[in-house]
Amino acid sequence: MPLPRLLLAWYKKHGRTLPWRNHPDPYAVWVSEIMLQQTRVETVIPYFEKWMQLFPDITSLATASEQAVLNAWEGLGYYSRARNLHKAAQITAQKFNGQLPRNLTDLRSLPGIGRYTVGAIASMAFGMDEPTLDGNLRRVFARLFHVSEFADSPAGEKILWELAAQNLPKGKAGDYNQALMDLGASICLPKNPRCLLCPLLEICKARKQGRQGLLPLLKPKKAAPHHTQAAAVITRRGLVLLAQRAPDGLLGGMWEFPNSRVNADPAQELPKVIHDAYGLKVKRKEALGIIQHAYTHFKVTVHAFHCQALFIPAKENLKWVKSSDLNEYPMGKIDRQIAEILKGI
Ligand code: ADE
Repeated sequence: MPLPRLLLAWYKKHGRTLPWRNHPDPYAVWVSEIMLQQTRVETVIPYFEKWMQLFPDITSLATASEQAVLNAWEGLGYYSRARNLHKAAQITAQKFNGQLPRNLTDLRSLPGIGRYTVGAIASMAFGMDEPTLDGNLRRVFARLFHVSEFADSPAGEKILWELAAQNLPKGKAGDYNQALMDLGASICLPKNPRCLLCPLLEICKARKQGRQGLLPLLKPKKAAPHHTQAAAVITRRGLVLLAQRAPDGLLGGMWEFPNSRVNADPAQELPKVIHDAYGLKVKRKEALGIIQHAYTHFKVTVHAFHCQALFIPAKENLKWVKSSDLNEYPMGKIDRQIAEILKGI
């Protein structure tokens, strides 16, 4: 089978040295694989290293507070990954004696561990002959075998998983899967693939037809909607009012400055929308800044205003905190930017 041979020879020479590679603890592989979903290797490395100091094993993660876990994840985005990792550590501590289970069914039963992560952990941490398929591997296989189904359709997925399994070299699946990841990250790039440097140049079907730049085929995406929001930065004698988001969903459990959608004029609509959303009565004062952010499925522009409290209802999700303690409260990127603006005034 020339594919694994060519690929593994290339990986030996050009594979990246990464802190979770050949790590003796399967937990480290698990943490890194969750962090690496939707996130680039360079971004993940410092988070991974800090995480392993804060939570060196499954038991220490299981007993940590959700606030500490979200704080350590802050900036990586897709926070349900951190909440699931935390829950899965608690289940592992109770049910599996604090050790990641070595069988596919038990692994898959853990929150946040889907088909991709099972394959990655099984092959890389346990040396099992299991395939995996992430964005990089999808692209590499779609090109190597000229897959003309939409790669993000069920039919395309099925073909790509089969290709991932068919070519797996026995006893070397971990290196093979990681070699494909490195190839996708450094050679088989989404735009302008560097085919002349590719060890698989001779066997790549897309390249043979000059169609590598057109694959993988992806279904056309709808344009992300755009929303405008007003945020109220309500302060009182060195304190600032934060709201905690619902436990699940976007930025679940994280803290924010009370905010809500507006139709047209954030300054004018702020008192009403903040009252409707939180029961808070505020008087708007000066504008603090305008922050743009793109989530996966929508974009927002947030207009932040300094506000004075006129009435604050007693609600569990509202909390006065010291301005100097804001760093202890996990926040998304928008609210962290507002917190930084507040520090400067
Ligand atoms: N992306 C996801 N998992 C990876 C790994 N183990 N090495 C490099 N890139 C990755």
